[in-house]
Amino acid sequence: MNYTFKENTYTIERYPPTQSKSLKAWNAADEHILNFLEETKTSKKNTVIFNDRFGFLSLFTAQYNPLVVLDYKSQEKALILNFKTNNITFDLPTNNSISKSDKLYELALIKIPKSLDLFRLQLSQIHHSLAESGEVVCGFMTKYFSKQYLSIASEFFEECTQSKAWKKSRVLVLKKKKEVKKKTYLNEIFYSKEKTFKQHFGVFSAKNIDYASQFFMENMDVRMDHNKILDLASGNGVIAYAVQKERPNAEIDLLDDSILALESSKMNIEGDNITFHYNDCLDNFEDQTFDLIVSNPPFHFEHETNIEIALELFKEVKRCLKKGGSFQMVTSNHLNSKTHLYKLFHKVDIVREDLKFVVYNCHS
Ligand SMILES: C[S@@+](CC[C@H](N)C(=O)[O-])C[C@H]1O[C@@H](n2cnc3c(N)ncnc32)[C@H](O)[C@@H]1O
Repeated sequence: MNYTFKENTYTIERYPPTQSKSLKAWNAADEHILNFLEETKTSKKNTVIFNDRFGFLSLFTAQYNPLVVLDYKSQEKALILNFKTNNITFDLPTNNSISKSDKLYELALIKIPKSLDLFRLQLSQIHHSLAESGEVVCGFMTKYFSKQYLSIASEFFEECTQSKAWKKSRVLVLKKKKEVKKKTYLNEIFYSKEKTFKQHFGVFSAKNIDYASQFFMENMDVRMDHNKILDLASGNGVIAYAVQKERPNAEIDLLDDSILALESSKMNIEGDNITFHYNDCLDNFEDQTFDLIVSNPPFHFEHETNIEIALELFKEVKRCLKKGGSFQMVTSNHLNSKTHLYKLFHKVDIVREDLKFVVYNCHS
């Protein structure tokens, strides 16, 4: 889809592509940020951008070479794709929400993420690398507004001013840095008396081990002949950890689209047979690589529910499973993944279900 602002028109697509007409590559909060910068004649030199999922803000500020914070492999691919489509050389410097930058920025643009923990982590990073005279322009859709936006922002900044609503979006402008004590932005989650999981702010299931994953781990079937195993969409690594307990000598791969998730899993599981992959698909694996693939797959992205990504992953799971291999996964019971799994796999068993969750074992 094309978007024109001032004299520039860019084509911006989602990656991965979608069949859904309701899922767009930008929303009014992105437009609102651009309009605000234009109306207030804010200089875009020395800018850092957060949560720009498909590159809308990065494209329209590309001439100023902003630092773009990339937290997902799929986000990186979306930006590369959209810059290429628009014939813009991709020489944007990039970073992620936990990497350190000692440069000082004058302007930070942030699409407020669904996870308020992530918002807090990102504001702490911005706070660290913003010049004293700098400002932060946060965009959000009014339907997602939470009072915590203001309370979190005021932990870091003296001045927090909200704009009027425009096309059901607002911007929140933050100025004047407060003194903030250094803190570690890690959550700790109880797993057992011996084990606590650590994860960066913004990683899935911050308060407890996810209930679907607990249900899954009680019902997964890891056998002695499962020697090469993948935890797909591994998050903080909890499922891989449970697998390792049962098969300490197996080779276990963990793969996640989120750098914060993958870096968290490195704090929770270790061993010579463990390999971590930062990716949004299985394209680095040969056909018929794994004896077992386990997963609590993704169906939600920020405020969107999207089954298409999981369905693409399932196709690749099929390709990467050895003959006789097994794909075991858990989902919410209302999602009805069964029909899709039946189309792909030779045999699909429901291992256990309750009112909330269902565990499948799919045989290749
Ligand atoms: C439901 S969570 C499960 C996390 C973890 N296994 C657990 O049980 O706590 C789904 C995970 O999928 C990841 N994810 C989303 N899209 C992905 C993709 N295309 N490829 C791999 N991982 C993805 C998310 O970052 C998230 O960590």
